[in-house]
Amino acid sequence: MKCSIISASLRVCESMQRSRAQKHVFLYCEPIVLTAYLRFLRYLRHDSKRIFIDLKVLGMGATIIVGGFFGDEGKGKIVAHVAFADKPAIIARGGIGPNAGHTIEVGRRKFGVRMIPSGFVYPDARLLIGAGVLVDPRVLLSEAGLLKVTERVGVDYRCAIIETKHIETDKLDPYLSQTIGSTGTGCGPAAADRAKRTTAQAREVAELSPFLTDAAAEVNKALEAGKNVILEGSQGFGISLFYGTFPYVTSKDTTASQIAADIGVGPTRITETIVVFKTFPTRVGAGPFDTQMSEDDAKKLNIEEFGTVTGRQRRIGWWDPTMAKYSAMVNGATQVAITGLDKLDPSVKGANQYDELSAKVKTFLREAETVVGVPFTLLSTGPELTEIVDLREEKLERA
Ligand code: GTP
Ligand code: IMP
Ligand code: MG
Repeated sequence: MKCSIISASLRVCESMQRSRAQKHVFLYCEPIVLTAYLRFLRYLRHDSKRIFIDLKVLGMGATIIVGGFFGDEGKGKIVAHVAFADKPAIIARGGIGPNAGHTIEVGRRKFGVRMIPSGFVYPDARLLIGAGVLVDPRVLLSEAGLLKVTERVGVDYRCAIIETKHIETDKLDPYLSQTIGSTGTGCGPAAADRAKRTTAQAREVAELSPFLTDAAAEVNKALEAGKNVILEGSQGFGISLFYGTFPYVTSKDTTASQIAADIGVGPTRITETIVVFKTFPTRVGAGPFDTQMSEDDAKKLNIEEFGTVTGRQRRIGWWDPTMAKYSAMVNGATQVAITGLDKLDPSVKGANQYDELSAKVKTFLREAETVVGVPFTLLSTGPELTEIVDLREEKLERA
């Protein structure tokens, strides 16, 4: 509410420029009422001529959302919530490609998306796919049609294309399909061909021509105009090609810096980096999982999960504070979103207020936040979009 009053006030200011670092807006006019209001709220610094307002206060700038464990942390749900709350002009997807599967539940409807940004449920945002992403045109066209978002989708003309041969290799190569346990979506072989510079680009695929755009230019232009943008990651820290449990990893880095690069946004433009964790981390495919629990324990706790893309049973683990801390560090997290609080204590399912959470959940949050050292601002209490406690207003540092 406060933010929307300030944003509305800003819109009427005639002369508004942004600093090079994009962290503040300069107001060269003197809107007395606004000044008094903001000073009252202690959201500004000022000198004799200029007022500096922290862009975070206005909810402006680029927010990156990435996974902190082994993928499937519930990024789709968090992106959708942040989209409805922050009303971005653009939601742009970085990450590897259609190996990702995001689930979004709105009311009784459940969507699974692999290529279209999971923020699509928010109807007013342009939906972009960044140049770094591998595109499977069949998956993209089918999702865009089914979800009726064709008009809003833009694909960077430089995206590399996944072809049938990549999918066949991914499924038939015993190293990829069995030793690594890949998703069989062609991402690894296409990424290898991209590095060899033999893949096609989106601009060479006739079916994609209505969608082609310069996503980097669109996003930077929106940021320049003071609009809000969400940059959506996929997979998770533990399966990053650089930082994960090599060789049992995916075919690219998955950290926030990579997601920004995938979309063409420089580090100075990022205002928030939200790392998503789940109370019980999961892992699909092969590879070490330090805190993995037995299938029996997962059954007893009633927390079994199955993959969105492959349908494979996910291995379930206990909360891993060491990994969470390290992952938050490398991602440069400014906030943490945590999903599955209802798995820790079913009594909190659907809670929207911090006070509705149980002592068990509050203790978990307090301890986890102390170890990770980053504010836990988004607390998900169930898979449905509205099952969340959003503490950003209360917990983020102001001015
Ligand atoms: P990748 O990009 O593939 O890594 O996926 P993702 O991070 O978007 O997660 P995905 O949707 O694959 O898996 C998360 C699962 O947890 C989905 O089934 C969600 O519906 C579910 N989920 C999200 N938040 C919550 C929550 O707070 N509680 C419970 N019980 N489930 C949740
Ligand atoms: P690839 O990305 O299909 O090559 O698979 C490599 C490894 O990453 C395998 O262990 C997959 O299970 C895992 N992986 C890839 N995408 C996801 C995802 O979206 N969620 C969880 N694991 C994934
Ligand atoms: Mg997933």
